[in-house]
Amino acid sequence: MFATCWALLLSSVLIGVDANPVKKFSLNRRSDGFPYALDDVDKLEEDSLAKFQAYLAKKNTTSHGCTLENAVRRQEWHDLTEPQKKEYISAVLCLQKKPPKANTTQYPGVLNRYDDFVLTHETQAFHLHSTPHLFPAHRLYIWAYEKALREECGYTGYQPYWNWGRTAEDPINSPIFNGNATSMGGNGAKSNYTGIMAMGFKKPYDVIPSDKGGGCVTDGPFANMTVSLGPISPVLPDVPKNPREDGFASNPRCLRRDVNHYASSITRANYTYDLIVNSKTVDKFQQDMLGIPERNDWGVHMGGHYTIGGDPGGDFFSSPGDPLFWFHHGMVDRIWWIWQMQDPENRMNVLPENPPADDFIDLNWTASRVSTWDMNDSIGGNGGEFCYIYV
Ligand SMILES: *[C@@H]1O[C@H](CO)[C@@H](O)[C@H](O)[C@H]1NC(C)=O
Ligand SMILES: *[C@@H]1O[C@H](CO)[C@@H](O)[C@H](O)[C@H]1NC(C)=O
Ligand SMILES: *[C@@H]1O[C@H](CO)[C@@H](O)[C@H](O)[C@H]1NC(C)=O
Ligand SMILES: *[C@@H]1O[C@H](CO)[C@@H](O)[C@H](O)[C@H]1NC(C)=O
Ligand SMILES: *[C@@H]1O[C@H](CO)[C@@H](O)[C@H](O)[C@H]1NC(C)=O
Ligand SMILES: *[C@@H]1O[C@H](CO)[C@@H](O)[C@H](O)[C@H]1NC(C)=O
Ligand SMILES: *[C@@H]1O[C@H](CO)[C@@H](O)[C@H](O)[C@H]1NC(C)=O
Ligand SMILES: *[C@@H]1O[C@H](CO)[C@@H](O)[C@H](O)[C@H]1NC(C)=O
Repeated sequence: MFATCWALLLSSVLIGVDANPVKKFSLNRRSDGFPYALDDVDKLEEDSLAKFQAYLAKKNTTSHGCTLENAVRRQEWHDLTEPQKKEYISAVLCLQKKPPKANTTQYPGVLNRYDDFVLTHETQAFHLHSTPHLFPAHRLYIWAYEKALREECGYTGYQPYWNWGRTAEDPINSPIFNGNATSMGGNGAKSNYTGIMAMGFKKPYDVIPSDKGGGCVTDGPFANMTVSLGPISPVLPDVPKNPREDGFASNPRCLRRDVNHYASSITRANYTYDLIVNSKTVDKFQQDMLGIPERNDWGVHMGGHYTIGGDPGGDFFSSPGDPLFWFHHGMVDRIWWIWQMQDPENRMNVLPENPPADDFIDLNWTASRVSTWDMNDSIGGNGGEFCYIYV
């Protein structure tokens, strides 16, 4: 009798407090065999979800039915199981064997479907990196790549991202770079590469010094990969020149890397955390991500690119020719989303330098023309085609 009363009382209290409860959303990251603890950026992401969920509930009409619950989940590479990693790697190798869509008379360096993506980045390098476009164009670009892996190569997962902070202390010994069969590595052989200029930085920060690589990748699943397009702006002194001035001829060569702990040292989680919480405007967020010379901080964008380095990874124009490019820009896209979630009402609807309403992005062979302003939202943007979160 007594117990029943309490039970009734308790349930009526619960109903009274929250008549229409919103189920708290959880990322449910993988935890079995999970080698990395959540870092401050992961925690910031988790802490932002409730606010973001409330924001989504209000703007439901523009989400095209996309919710946090039904959005697809892009996972961190290290959180994939070994079979999932194998499936991903096979899909990339598959794309590198499919016929291209680009006109190979005009662009003879395009040998396969993967190269279509590299070509897009080369032909449109300035457009894709101009101030308003860096974030939205790369969001579209990664999504198109993920779609190609799935639809053209039967991949059943989604594009993994690379949380830089996890590997920043010792990249070369981390599972993503270590060169075993389920890594995206390995390092390049030792070479005479000496480092890359960091323009606008004062000595000794005007150079990102070389680490132990720079030569051909000789282990891991991409050891036999043929790089064909470019280089256009190589960082290595001894990459064979492309036979054509524009870099579009075939220039078959090995994949080269310099897995670099100087570059990775400025991608520790505290740098990314600091970037997200101390950038009050989207313009500052983008600028600081690209480097803060007065703090001798090369920026997490450059930090990630030159943790990979080499050829074509170090070339501004043909960097997507290294299969790790997509992991790095996935993380850039992820931190943009985390930045947006800090104040969704005011951050979901802004882009750097406020492009005009009719501004567009056209990725030619890899994605059809879209409105730049429809790229600001990963939950329902791109006419509802974007519906993903990072876990
Ligand atoms: C959007 O949410 C509001 C409040 O939760 C609700 O009244 C409305 O029916 C929803 N609209 C759609 C299209 O789901
Ligand atoms: C391919 O490019 C060549 C050379 O630019 C051109 O002559 C040809 O018409 C193009 N083919 C197609 C199908 O567009
Ligand atoms: C590759 O490395 C990962 C983690 O470092 C390990 O779990 C896996 O068993 C390794 N695989 C091989 C084939 O060595
Ligand atoms: C670097 O090494 C390559 C051989 O691996 C050689 O051809 C080239 O001349 C060297 N470059 C410099 C600047 O020493
Ligand atoms: C690369 O090619 C060599 C020689 O054909 C082969 O033995 C090796 O297994 C290949 N490695 C990969 C990762 O495909
Ligand atoms: C991150 O931590 C390192 C080492 O603890 C420190 O040297 C660096 O200044 C910190 N960076 C930022 C942006 O907080
Ligand atoms: C994206 O920006 C455009 C232009 O400001 C705006 O119309 C749209 O509502 C924004 N999307 C979101 C989710 O705020
Ligand atoms: C690629 O897209 C741009 C922008 O729409 C366009 O100007 C260009 O002609 C396209 N290039 C090709 C080869 O289709």
